[in-house]
Amino acid sequence: MRILGIETSCDETAAAVITTARRAIAIDSSVVRSQINIHQKYGGVVPEVAALDEAGVSISDIDRIAVTRGPGLITSLMVGVETARALAYTHDIPIVGINHLFGHIAVNQLPPQRPLTARDFPAVCLIASGGHTELILLKSLTQYRKIGQTLDDAAGEAFDKTAKLMGLPYPGGPVIAQRAAKGNPNHVIFPRPMLDSGDFNFSFSGLKTAVRYHVQKLPKLTPRTIDHLCAAVQQAIVDVLVAKTVMAAERHNVKTVLLGGGVVANTALRQQLTEQLAATLPQTTLRFPPVSYCGDNGLLAAAAGVYTAPPTSGWRRLRVDPNLSL
Ligand code: KG4
Ligand code: ZN
Repeated sequence: MRILGIETSCDETAAAVITTARRAIAIDSSVVRSQINIHQKYGGVVPEVAALDEAGVSISDIDRIAVTRGPGLITSLMVGVETARALAYTHDIPIVGINHLFGHIAVNQLPPQRPLTARDFPAVCLIASGGHTELILLKSLTQYRKIGQTLDDAAGEAFDKTAKLMGLPYPGGPVIAQRAAKGNPNHVIFPRPMLDSGDFNFSFSGLKTAVRYHVQKLPKLTPRTIDHLCAAVQQAIVDVLVAKTVMAAERHNVKTVLLGGGVVANTALRQQLTEQLAATLPQTTLRFPPVSYCGDNGLLAAAAGVYTAPPTSGWRRLRVDPNLSL
């Protein structure tokens, strides 16, 4: 089965083509246009034509269209969903609306990783992105439930907002990660909210406030100080994400820890989670999706589309849902 995935939930407009064989999935193409830097040229255009071209196929070769219908920004979501509905109607292709957050989990099925099998479950997935921070317990790729989430800001939002307070550009995550590599994480110890709350929930808005007060009190924000603050902010976020993920893995006796979302591209997070999981739960396998699949892309819609059957109502009933949850 060949699936065209379309994803437009936030800053990116993206499309990808994958082919499923009996067990494995092959990636035929993936095209991401970010509105962050090329707004004028491609803004609002879904690159499905480029994804089909790159895959060397035409729309008539597509067996299923999978499109992100939520959660996300309503106007961005509508661009993808309306394009997908028009394609499904015009070419009579089954269409399925997918949950963006499930997409962040489903990319773990893509090569170069081997696909998960029944023996890899139960699993817990940390989803950390610009809009969400959630821990999902999975019995399989079709049976899962949320066991924890952020009560206020998401982890990515904490990176983005604290970066802004330090005068750094959007998105904050990659810039903070880069500057943090040169700084001292113990320069100042920011709060680790909810670290000892005993549940799997998160809260990051207090961190933002702590950084704001700290920056306001500084006589001057020098480049060197910014490096240190970046390291301290990153360490505060990573500490909480790592501790809660390991705790969830332990409590639910999982075989596998999965990661998804833009924030899990973070090198310090990957390193520290690897170390702490190996120390606490040496039998548990940690799987990293390649960095290029962590952020938003068409592959997440296509991969989620493998596990979601298209409804018989076809394109007619498909609607965006900005608040869709897992
Ligand atoms: O999953 P994603 O691309 O979009 C959403 O679904 O929100 O995640 C974007 C978020 C942004 O907040 C961005 O700052 C963060 O992921 N991010 C990172 C890194 N790369 C992207 N955060 C920390 N370290 C990174 N290397
Ligand atoms: Zn995302």
